[in-house]
Amino acid sequence: MYTTNQTKKLQAATISWLAEKDMVVNAGNIEELRDILRFHEYRYYVLNDNLIQDPEYDRLYKALEKYEEAYPASVTKNSPTQRVGAGLIKDFPKRQHLVPMLSLENSYNAEDLYDWDRKARELSGLDMIEYCAEPKFDGASISLIYEDDLLLTGTTRGDGEVGDDITPNIRQIRSVPLSAAFSSYGIQQIEVRGEVMLNKKNFEKYNAGLAEEGLPPLANPRNAAAGSLRIKDTREVAKRNLEAFLYHVSYITDSDHKDQTNDEPTTHSGMLEMLWQLGFKSPQKEMKVLKGIDAVIKHIEDYENLRDTLPYEIDGIVIKVNDLALQDRLGITSHHPRWAIAYKFKARQATSKLLDVEYQVGRTGAVTPVAKIQPVQVGGVTVGSISIHNEDYIREKDLRLGDQILIERSGDVIPQIVRSLPELRTGGEKIIKYPTHCPVCGDQLVKPEGEAVWRCVNINCEAQVVERIIHFVSKDAMDIRSFGEANVRKFYDLGLIKDIPSIYDLSGESLQQLEGFGAKSIENLLQAIEASKIQPLHRLIYALGIRYVGETTGKTLAQAVNNIFDLATFTDEQLKQIDDVGVKVARSIFEFFQNEDNTRMLAKLQAAGVVMERTKSAGFTEGGFSGQTFLFTGTLNKLKRSEAEDQVEKKGGKILSGVSSKLNYLIVGDDAGSKLEKAKKIPAIKILSEDDFLNMIGIAGDK
Ligand code: IVH
Repeated sequence: MYTTNQTKKLQAATISWLAEKDMVVNAGNIEELRDILRFHEYRYYVLNDNLIQDPEYDRLYKALEKYEEAYPASVTKNSPTQRVGAGLIKDFPKRQHLVPMLSLENSYNAEDLYDWDRKARELSGLDMIEYCAEPKFDGASISLIYEDDLLLTGTTRGDGEVGDDITPNIRQIRSVPLSAAFSSYGIQQIEVRGEVMLNKKNFEKYNAGLAEEGLPPLANPRNAAAGSLRIKDTREVAKRNLEAFLYHVSYITDSDHKDQTNDEPTTHSGMLEMLWQLGFKSPQKEMKVLKGIDAVIKHIEDYENLRDTLPYEIDGIVIKVNDLALQDRLGITSHHPRWAIAYKFKARQATSKLLDVEYQVGRTGAVTPVAKIQPVQVGGVTVGSISIHNEDYIREKDLRLGDQILIERSGDVIPQIVRSLPELRTGGEKIIKYPTHCPVCGDQLVKPEGEAVWRCVNINCEAQVVERIIHFVSKDAMDIRSFGEANVRKFYDLGLIKDIPSIYDLSGESLQQLEGFGAKSIENLLQAIEASKIQPLHRLIYALGIRYVGETTGKTLAQAVNNIFDLATFTDEQLKQIDDVGVKVARSIFEFFQNEDNTRMLAKLQAAGVVMERTKSAGFTEGGFSGQTFLFTGTLNKLKRSEAEDQVEKKGGKILSGVSSKLNYLIVGDDAGSKLEKAKKIPAIKILSEDDFLNMIGIAGDK
C-alpha cells in the first residue's frame, strides 16, 4: 500500500506537523493532513503497527476537525473526519445485492475435498487445479460498493438477495477505506465482500463490560459482530473496534481506463493482492496458493493447529479456484458456486451434566453463580466449571441441577452453556435455588431495581476485599508482576496483607518466612511492587475498582484531572461533563469518593509513594529524555514492552520504529536479533541492557 519512501515521507511530515505547538491548517496543506491521518489509520487498523501514539493522532485529528468546522465547504466525502456519523440511525433501508450473496458448500474431511476437486477437474478437463486457500472468518458477512474510488454503500448479507444498508456503521470500521484507487486498475464500480469481525481481545473486553453491569455475555465473537452492525447509534458502533476482512470481488464495471496504471487481476489471489495494495485488510498474508488438492489438505492440517494462536476466530478454511476465468467456466449450482468450498473445522461443542452451582462474590459484591459440570473436553480443553452469570440467565436457559447441557467454546474464548437439553430429563432434576444471603459474610443479598445481579453490600465482606486486591495488582491495572491471584489469597490468609495499601508494607522479612519463596522471587515481587508506584494515573484509577470504571473510562478520567484527588472534588454534574461518563458512571465515581474508607485508602497509597498525578502526555514533556530516541528489541523480563515505551515517552523521549543513525539508545532484551546486529554497526547508538534502562529511569536494575 505505502512504499518505503512514502512511509518515510508521511512519517517525516507527521513529525513536522507534531512539532508545531499550534498547527496551522489551511487550504494549501489540508490534503497533506488528511493523507497523514489516513496513513496512521492504516498503520494502526490494517497493519496493527502504529508509528505514533493515540494522543498524537488525536492532536492531528482535532486540527483537521477544527478547520473543517470553521470551513464546512472544505469537507470531502473521504475525509478521515467523515467516519463519525450523525448519531442515531432510524432504520436500515433494504438494498438489493448486485450479485446474490451465495453461501458456500461445506466439507468436513479429506473425502469431501477429493470429491469436490474431482468434479471440478472433470468439468474443466484439467489434470490439476490451482487453488487459493484462506481462513474462513467467523464473523458477519458484508458487501461494499465503491464507485469512482469512493465507498458508496455497505450492506449485510440479509437473505442473500436483499440485505440491510448499514453504510453509516460500516464507515465506523477504521480498516475499511473511505476511498480506494480502484481507477488505477481500470475499475469504475466494484462490489467487494468480506466479513466483519470482533477480535478475541475486543470480544472479551466487551463481555467484561457486560459482566460489569451484571448482564449475560454474548456467546461468541460472531454474534457480537453481527449484533454490532445493527446498532442504531454509530458512536456505539465505533466503540466496538470492529474490523473487516475483505476476501472476494463479486462484480466489476470497467472505467474509461484513463487513470489506469495496473492490470486488472485475473486470479483470485491477484484480487486479494490488489485489495491489499489499495489499503484493505484482505487476507493477502493469510492466503496460500496451492497446486492440487493434496497440497490443500496438507495446508488445512497445518492451519488448524494455528487456530488458537490467531487473534480472531476462524471456523475453517475456504478453498477457491484461483483462476477467475476458470471460476466463470465452473459457474454455480442453484445454491453454491462450484469454484469454492468451505472446509469446516471440528465443532467446539460438547454435552455434559450440570452437577452443582457455586456462588462467587466479586469485588463489587456481585454474586455470580458458577456451574460445576462433569468435566468434559471441548476443543482440546477440559472444562469443569462455567460462569452462568445471574439468576435470570438460569431461568431463561431453564437450567436444573442434574440437567444434560450443551456447551460451546469458541477458540480461546471462555466456554458457555448454549442450552439445557430438557428432552433428556429423567425427572430427578432439581430447580436451582438462588441464595438469599452472602455465601462469604452471611449478610442479606440485595438486588437494586432494574439490575440483574444480587449483591452483597457489605463493603468489608472478605470476599470483596480480596477481589479488590486481586484486581488492583492485575495485569491491566497496576500490573504487579508475580503477585497474582494465588499469592493475594495466600498473603491475605496469612495476614501479610489486609487491604490494598498494605501491599506497599510488604517487606523482605515478612516474605522470608513463607515456604516456597526464595530470595529471587522475593526480590522480583518487591521490585514489581516498587515499579507499580509510578504507573500512569489511568491505571491507578482503573485499579481502584470503581464500579463501571473500566480501562477506557479510567483513561478518560485521567485526562480530565491533574491529580486523583481532583476527582473527589467533582460533583455528579461535573463528572457527567466528562466524555463517556453517563449518569450511572458519574454516580458510581461520586459515591466512591464520598466514602471515607476510600479517601483514607488513597491517602495511604500516596503516603506509600504511589504517584497520584497525571504525567503529561507522550512526547511533549520537557523530561530528562527530551530529544533522545529509543528502541526496544528482544524480550524484556521486568517490564512489558509497552510499559517501557510509556516510561520513555513520559520522560519526553521518543520511540523509533527501526535502527537508524537517528537512534540514540537500543535496549536489548533476550533473544534480540537483526536490530541488535544492525545497531552494532552504528557507533553512535548506545546499546543497553534492560537493567541499564531500569537504572536510567530510576527503578533499580540488577546492578
Ligand atoms: S467467499 C460466493 N471467503 O462463509 C462466495 N466466504 O457460506 C463468497 N466466509 O457467506 C464467499 N470467510 O460469510 C468466502 N475467506 C472467505 C470467507 C467466507 C468467511 C463466510 C461468508 C460466506 C460463508 C460461507
